[in-house]
Amino acid sequence: MSRHLLVTGGAGFIGSSFVRHVLAHTDARVTVLDKLTYAGSTANLHGLPTDRVRLVVGDIADAALVEELVAPLTGEGDAIVHCAAESHNDNSLHDPSPFLHTNLVGTFTLLEAARRHGTRFHHISTDEVYGELDLDAPERFTETTPYNPSSPYSATKAGSDLLVRAWVRSFGVRATLSNCSNNYGPRQHVEKFIPRQITSLIDGVRPRLYGTGENVRDWIHAEDHSSAVLTILEKGRIGQTYLIGADGERSNLEVVQLLLQLMGREVDDFDHVPDRPGHDLRYAIDPTKLREELGWSPSCPDFAAGLAATVDWYRRHEAWWRPQKAAAEAKYARRGR
Ligand code: NAD
Ligand code: TYD
Repeated sequence: MSRHLLVTGGAGFIGSSFVRHVLAHTDARVTVLDKLTYAGSTANLHGLPTDRVRLVVGDIADAALVEELVAPLTGEGDAIVHCAAESHNDNSLHDPSPFLHTNLVGTFTLLEAARRHGTRFHHISTDEVYGELDLDAPERFTETTPYNPSSPYSATKAGSDLLVRAWVRSFGVRATLSNCSNNYGPRQHVEKFIPRQITSLIDGVRPRLYGTGENVRDWIHAEDHSSAVLTILEKGRIGQTYLIGADGERSNLEVVQLLLQLMGREVDDFDHVPDRPGHDLRYAIDPTKLREELGWSPSCPDFAAGLAATVDWYRRHEAWWRPQKAAAEAKYARRGR
């Protein structure tokens, strides 16, 4: 019998990329548990083989449902890969409540099931738990950087990481953790920076840069995030945290200008809008541990090429993003951004 993975949030951006990666590179079967919030979509799983992927629509904080799905994960290599989250900083600034429910209570509910059944657990998290770096500092985040989250999103992700670490230490749950930098690629919701600007440009609308645009993010293709998670699941040491990054630091201004170039517009054809409150200046990952201990390396390290392919994907998949666009922009308009 092939191994069986329970992927929470598998109908979202990174979860569905991970499910595709697993199907292409292993013989595992996958059960996706996803609430199908505004960020999840069955379209993200279209075309996948139904004998290997099953979607269960539900909440990770529903203890009875989680028990039913985790209890059968008793085989060699079976595991929970926990991707589900409320994931957008701007939303967390306007209504933190779903972030506490999903990121904290949801993670707790899954950990309790993993504890009862001795199930292998991988927790997917973000570099935002470490707070911000100075723009011109030589440092990058490492596995020993102290936690210092800034927003309700990053605070609840930090809390979820700490729950996982406590369940390893106190209850012997066989968990690993990963904290990844900013992802880009196909199927990312249009509320996020890169898809927002691509789809606005397709509509002839100027990109919107928060504040000065000097903030730096460390971009990695979602496919590389997925390959790193599978590597950690298969080779990572229990109880360990691995930082995932692909040396992709760029300022937001640089990203917007690259997009304008790729899409045939003048490089100053964008607008500055009011800054996000508490906006972290810079994130940057030192991925040495993952590379040296587990031998992982990215397969799409060229950001400009990856961005061009992503622009092409959004151009060819208007039917995928069009239904989200007006509602996402209406939310931004209400927030003055
Ligand atoms: P996303 O918002 O695109 O997808 C989240 C998915 O989780 C959606 O399908 C949603 O329906 C589902 N979900 C939300 N609440 C749920 C609940 N209570 N029960 C079941 N399902 C629920 O997010 P994403 O960008 O794919 O992020 C996935 C994970 O990766 C998150 O844990 C996030 O913190 C982490 N991460 C994201 C990035 C990034 O750049 N996007 C970077 C590093 C880490
Ligand atoms: P985002 O995709 O929301 O990711 P995160 O907040 O997790 O880093 O934003 C990425 C960066 O882009 C962040 O510095 C905020 C900025 N940003 C803009 O400048 N304009 C926008 O329209 C959006 C959505 C984000």
